[in-house]
Amino acid sequence: MLKLALSFSIFLLILSCNSIEKLTDTQITNAKNQLSLLLEEAMQVNRIPRTVTKENKIRWCNQDFDWTEGFFPGTCWYLYEITNDNKWKIAAEKMQLQFEEHKYKTNNHDLGFIYNTSYGNGYRITNNNNFKQILITAANSLITRFDPDVGCIQSWDVNSGWQAKRGWKYPVIIDNMMNLELLFKVSEITGDNKYKNIAIAHADTTLKNHFREDNSSFHVIDYDPETGEVRSKETAQGFSDQSSWARGQAWGLYGYTVCYRFTKDEKYLEQAQKVAKYILNHKITPSDGIPYWDYNASNIPNEPRDVSAAAITASALLELDKYSQEDYSSEIKKILKSLASDSYTAKLGTNNNFLLKHSVGSLPHGHEINVPLNYADYYYIEALLRYKKAGDKHKIADK
Ligand code: GLY
Repeated sequence: MLKLALSFSIFLLILSCNSIEKLTDTQITNAKNQLSLLLEEAMQVNRIPRTVTKENKIRWCNQDFDWTEGFFPGTCWYLYEITNDNKWKIAAEKMQLQFEEHKYKTNNHDLGFIYNTSYGNGYRITNNNNFKQILITAANSLITRFDPDVGCIQSWDVNSGWQAKRGWKYPVIIDNMMNLELLFKVSEITGDNKYKNIAIAHADTTLKNHFREDNSSFHVIDYDPETGEVRSKETAQGFSDQSSWARGQAWGLYGYTVCYRFTKDEKYLEQAQKVAKYILNHKITPSDGIPYWDYNASNIPNEPRDVSAAAITASALLELDKYSQEDYSSEIKKILKSLASDSYTAKLGTNNNFLLKHSVGSLPHGHEINVPLNYADYYYIEALLRYKKAGDKHKIADK
C-alpha cells in the first residue's frame, strides 16, 4: 500500500515537472509572438513602450528620462539570447541607443536599473566594448549620489516634483537595492573595488534601517545628510508608512540575493531568505501566489493585485534557490503557473501587445493601476529563462 502511494506520488511529481517545463517553453513562444507585435509598433515610432494609458493607448517612455527605459531593450536582449534571432539584437541596440546619453545624469538613482537591464545584458551577451564603457560611465554617475556619512546612495532629489513636497532631506527607497548590481558588475569589469564598496555600504545601511522585526521593509527612509541619522520612515508608493508595499518587498528580495551572488557574505543570504519567508508566508496573498499591491491595503480582497511584484519575486527566488538550503521550487512553480494562466497572460494581440496584465505602478499617485508594465514582462521573461536554465541542470525539477 505504502509502495503504491509512493509510486503514485512519484508519478504526480514527474507529471508536474514535465507540465511546468512544457509550460515554460510555451510561455517563451507566447512571449516571442506577443512582443514581436509590440516591437513592430515600437520600431515604427522609434519609442520604448512602458505601459497603457487610461485611453487604452501605448504609453511610451519619456524621452528626457524614464526609470523604466531599460526594460524593453533588456527584454529584447533576453529574447535574442534564447532565439538567436538577429531582429531582437537589432531592436535592443536601437532602443537602448535612445537613452545612451542619460549615462551622464547624476540627478537620479535609477541608472542601475536602466543600464544593467539594457547595456548590461547586451555586454554579457555580446562582449561589446562600447557597451562596457557605457556601463562604466553610468556607474561613475551613480556613485556621485553616495554620501559616506549616510552610507547610502540618495534615491530621489528633493528640489522638484512631488518629492519636494514631502519635507525629505535624503530619501532612500528600498527599490535602490536594485541599482547595486550595476556597481558590482562594474567593479568586476574594471577591477576597481570602489563601486563594489559603495554597493556594500549601501546594502549594509539598508539592512540596518529599512527592515522591521517581521522582515518586511519600509519604502522610504529619510536620512539627515549632516549626521547620517534616520529622520523618518515612510512610504511613497505603499498604502501607509507602516504598510508593506508588495513590489518593495520583491525589490528587497532580489537586491539581497544579488548582493550574496557578488560577495558570498552570509548576512545577505540570510536577509534574502527572511524576506522570502515574509513574502511566501503572508496569509493575505491568494492561493495563486500573486500578491495584492500592498500587503496591508485596506480593502483586501477588493484591491488590485500587482503582477510585477510576483514576476520579480519568481525571478529572485530562482536565483536564491541556487544558494539556499531552503527549497523554493514549489513556490516558484506556483507563481510561474499562475502568471502563465489566462488570468495574467494576455491572449495574442490583446493587452496592447504587452505580455502580462494586472500590475500596479503607483496607486497612491493614481498612476498605472491594473495595467501591463514593461518591467513585469522583463522579470517574467528573466524568470522563464532562469527556470529553463535551472531545469537543464535538473536543479528545480529534481528537488
Ligand atoms: N521605483 C521603482 C518602482 O516603482 O518600483
